[in-house]
Amino acid sequence: MDKLIEEMKSLKAKAMAGGGEDKIKAQHEKGKMTARERIALLFDEGTFSEIMTFARTQSTEFGLDKTDLYGDGVVTGWGKIDGRTAFVYSQDFTSLGGTLGEMHASKIGKVYELALKVGAPVIGINDSGGARIQEGAASLEGYGLVFKNNVMASGVIPQITIMAGPAAGGAVYSPALTDFLIMVKGDAYYMFVTGPEITKVVLGEDVSMQDLGGAVVHASKSGVVHFMVDSEQEAINTAKRLLSYLPSNNMEEPPYMDTGDTNDREVKDAESIVPTDSAKTFDIRDLVYAVVDNGEFLEVHKHWAQNITVGFARVAGNVVGIVANNSAYASGAIDIDAADKAARFIRFCDAFNIPLVSIVDTPGYIPGTDQEYRGIIRHGAKMLYAFAEATVPKITVVVRRSYGGAHIAMSIKSLGADVIYAWPSAEIAVTGPEGAVRILYKKELQAASNPDELLKQRIAEYKKLFANPYWAAKKGLIDDVIEPKDTRKVIMSALSMLKNKREYRYPKKAWEYASLT
Ligand code: HXC
Repeated sequence: MDKLIEEMKSLKAKAMAGGGEDKIKAQHEKGKMTARERIALLFDEGTFSEIMTFARTQSTEFGLDKTDLYGDGVVTGWGKIDGRTAFVYSQDFTSLGGTLGEMHASKIGKVYELALKVGAPVIGINDSGGARIQEGAASLEGYGLVFKNNVMASGVIPQITIMAGPAAGGAVYSPALTDFLIMVKGDAYYMFVTGPEITKVVLGEDVSMQDLGGAVVHASKSGVVHFMVDSEQEAINTAKRLLSYLPSNNMEEPPYMDTGDTNDREVKDAESIVPTDSAKTFDIRDLVYAVVDNGEFLEVHKHWAQNITVGFARVAGNVVGIVANNSAYASGAIDIDAADKAARFIRFCDAFNIPLVSIVDTPGYIPGTDQEYRGIIRHGAKMLYAFAEATVPKITVVVRRSYGGAHIAMSIKSLGADVIYAWPSAEIAVTGPEGAVRILYKKELQAASNPDELLKQRIAEYKKLFANPYWAAKKGLIDDVIEPKDTRKVIMSALSMLKNKREYRYPKKAWEYASLT
């Protein structure tokens, strides 16, 4: 046995060495960690258990059978993160460039199979040259398997991708199919469907790797990346922080935590954070920080579509998803990107039993040919759909402007909001005062001897009627008008009341209906 154990140890040491010393050195020289170093940072010390350690490519083409690398370019297994089980696949760039072949894909498939059986999150650390060219169609089939697993797991277990290297071609689609993408800034990290060389040939466009697919581009322009970080260590910390807000699967509640904040405290400075003059802009995040436990807010998509703010926080220890208009950007109006950003976030929260809190201050949708041609109708509909579809508790607080379609899109009673509050500064109407008056009094204004004076007068009348919460409240469309300082209290109370909320939807397939009856 001693001899056998010695042999096993030496084989394991070989597996642990990945692509070997030179490749590890090259990896470090690029400022990157190895697959195993990343795993060591991710899991609680000593909790990682590896699976399919000795698996290797079965392919014989292009001399692949002569390679003697274990693991097939990916390290797979499970461990504990803050005491909770989570699964990982971490691509090993030192071994065959972390490329995805048949065995590599089946290792990822095994991770998903186990994670789905036990209901635990998957963290994918991507660092790969993409489809392994030597394995031809088998490696494409492998990607199909990964994508299918991503989709089957969607809404069942949380999936987080850390982009810790390159991703080119179809390889970018697994990260995109997962719930959250964390990407490291720097030359060694990029993702694009088509690289700079082909871009140059096809379009004559000269663009660098980073300008085409670096973290800054994806976090601020394309919206592909949810969290941009400065280092791999920070990427791992962000994944852990994100998991602290999420249940392990869709059958669980999100984790309660005693945050130490006073449950029924008043919101300090709420009145001074939000200017009553609706022409003045402010940063809605200041209000979010003031309302939630200890000011801790994990903002998602911080650098993209900043006219809407979304993210996770706790109120009296309970996790909530915040959706808030931010007048500091585009006056808080909703556009295509804002609608996409919000819709995706709302659907995630709904899948994982996270109550939604809307904080409303929006003048409406952004007008103009750019938005209309690109499909604000199509994209805006996604946000309405997401809120209406969601069966988690939905609480709305209108702090200032709430106009037109955007009023509905931010979750109102008829769309399914459970409770809706307004501050005394709320303004709720079909459209803003000037636009409304110009439509309602078009003829009168044309005929007026002093149209400016008349416009002013009519705007003042309109404001008196609608630029307040009471007209809507009288119709029963607002549950209560509250003092700003009580915002946290009412959210807390509504969350507690809605704890056992159950709401059903019509089955969408005959077999679904049959299984209910
Ligand atoms: C096989 C590959 C490979 C690939 C890299 N390698 N990509 N082997 N198939 N796709 C190997 C290299 O030969 C090298 O092997 C090792 O991995 C490290 O690669 P280097 O080129 O030395 O590293 P670096 O200089 O850092 O460049 C990294 C890189 C480059 C930018 C990713 O390797 C590259 O451009 N690779 C091709 C990327 C690509 O086009 N992939 C296919 C995309 S299409 P040795 O033996 O020297 O260590 C795709 C389709 C998916 O993925 C479809 C899903 C639907």
